[in-house]
Amino acid sequence: MHALEEKIRTEGIVLSDQVLKVDAFLNHQIDPVLMQQIGQEFATRFKDQGITKIITIEASGIAPAVMAGLVLGVPVIFARKYQSLTLKDDLFKAKVYSFTKQTESTIAISKKHLTAQDKALVIDDFLANGQAALGLIDLIKQAEAEVIGVGIVIEKSFQTGRQLLLDKGYRVESLARVASLENGVVRFVEKTA
Ligand code: G4P
Repeated sequence: MHALEEKIRTEGIVLSDQVLKVDAFLNHQIDPVLMQQIGQEFATRFKDQGITKIITIEASGIAPAVMAGLVLGVPVIFARKYQSLTLKDDLFKAKVYSFTKQTESTIAISKKHLTAQDKALVIDDFLANGQAALGLIDLIKQAEAEVIGVGIVIEKSFQTGRQLLLDKGYRVESLARVASLENGVVRFVEKTA
């Protein structure tokens, strides 16, 4: 997605060979116009799939997921990472291990929002090692709902997440695919015609 790649080039900061900082438009300050375009692009790529719910994870997945939900006209559920005072219902829970942070966390959504009739699209801001996406897929499967695919704003294609999800048979649509962050420069995956 051209506008997103331009934004990453101009406002992204390469922190290391592994980490891209995008808190000028996605992870802290949010660019609503860009988010709207991102939502439209996800909706275009996953149209005609009968999607009934979008599933994401707090915090940074929420903005792109809501914009996609707006265009597709479906509700957005964000998995909680922390214990909520009000989330006391029966919960679907999954463990997510972060290789980046070397921590394990439990994510949860209420059983009342996701049922076996749902066709779910997973959306997240980053795809690194795929553990967050797999955790969300685990929650969807516990509900016996169908996983239609995974929509990612920024994929770090030099990490393992994309292949892991493809190997498990999931469709992955990433709007920007970063091939490398070496020498402080963002290089994108070359598009095939
Ligand atoms: P994985 O889910 O793909 O395995 O990713 P990983 O554990 O490596 O990432 C943990 C957190 O770090 C996630 O956010 C993920 O979105 C974010 N992340 C991974 N790589 C990058 C990167 O290069 N740049 C930035 N800015 N973030 C990255 P989180 O902890 O869930 O935070 P948030 O959603 O509350 O912002």
